[in-house]
Amino acid sequence: MSTRFEFPKGFLWGAATSAHQVEGGNRNDWTEWEKANATRLAGEAKSHFGHLPNWQDIRGEAEDPENYISEKACDHYHRFREDFDIAKSLGHNAHRFSIEWSRVEPGEGKFDEAEIEHYRRVIHALRECGMEPFVTLWHWTLPLWLRDRGGVLASDFAERFAQYAERMGKELGSDVRFWMTLNEPTSVIANGYHRGVWPPQIRSFGKVRRAYRALAEAHRQGYRVLHEVVPEAEVGFGNILLFLEPASASPLDHLAVRLWEHWANERFLKIIGDTNDYYALQYYFHFRVAFPRRIRNLNERVSDLGWELYPEGLYHLIKRFQKFGKPIYITENGLADAADRQRARFIQKSLEAVARARKEGADIRGYFHWSLLDNFEWDKGFWPRFGLVEVDYKTLERKIRPSAWEYKKIIDANAIELP
Ligand code: FCB
Repeated sequence: MSTRFEFPKGFLWGAATSAHQVEGGNRNDWTEWEKANATRLAGEAKSHFGHLPNWQDIRGEAEDPENYISEKACDHYHRFREDFDIAKSLGHNAHRFSIEWSRVEPGEGKFDEAEIEHYRRVIHALRECGMEPFVTLWHWTLPLWLRDRGGVLASDFAERFAQYAERMGKELGSDVRFWMTLNEPTSVIANGYHRGVWPPQIRSFGKVRRAYRALAEAHRQGYRVLHEVVPEAEVGFGNILLFLEPASASPLDHLAVRLWEHWANERFLKIIGDTNDYYALQYYFHFRVAFPRRIRNLNERVSDLGWELYPEGLYHLIKRFQKFGKPIYITENGLADAADRQRARFIQKSLEAVARARKEGADIRGYFHWSLLDNFEWDKGFWPRFGLVEVDYKTLERKIRPSAWEYKKIIDANAIELP
């Protein structure tokens, strides 16, 4: 017998995007890196994705260098109104997006009024559609002047970030309550400074440590200045969390889980201390750990990228954060699923996990699906399709996927049936 769970009034329902992945027409460290690396990435596609069951469907795109160049992306920069109208028609009452730092501060200390005005219009368009803006300041891309000075490792990275945050707070704060300083700092540290697969393609433990410190300091300073200029602000950062389980009862596997959790999930939080008004949880990965490594799971339900689908993990992660007593938002959770075969079930199961945790007292207040639109998935390019809305990259036509209507049913009811 199922029971009906009602979400609280005012629960935020929506989807998330980031500037670089949807806007098009950017000029930043990633756009330059894409052009320099597109041919290599296309050449390596088979070694990364050739094992996937859908390889024959994706190889045309994955082996094409054009796939790896963001260029006009979804042209959301010009079509944001159309996209917000779609989100509204899907019942969303909130939307998470990011400001492109390289647009608003194209030269050091030189802010571009017209670009700031653009984001003001974006925020107003959201308000007109009845959607609460949830604004991320740094979703990974850097202005070129800052990249040239060392990017995250520049000696004054935190100060430069805080100056940008302060300006955005002053300009846009009257219309924005929810601020996110950084998106997933640990993803950038892992992929940019440890594995060396994203810009700036470094592999160095020493630089991993420096990047941790620099990003944590940027968050702390950003938190402080946003509170100074936007008294009502709620400030946090997007925290990617792995859900890890020991592969066996062996104490070594348990120890390895603790070590992995420390590095992947907790270290950044510890360094920044209490500079969080809410917890923004972002969840994609579930692994077993057999000392000393992460291994694939037995659950063979996977996305188009081969990432295991385990929505139940969300429940356990929320439960861990419940004890801190602060509001929790799921600010990303989603899957690449071009055929839209698994998305509706995935959303249903993820929201069941959210509802169960809420029922047991977790103060969870919102869910943002990744993503509103198909978009540019970083070093994998355009072929992975994460959108509630499909984008035809030739015509830029938008088409709502059936799962988006299933999500809308839950939103409209503000309730879910729990098995
Ligand atoms: C997250 C990123 C987001 C998107 C999804 C699939 O780690 O924050 O930009 O790439 O993964």
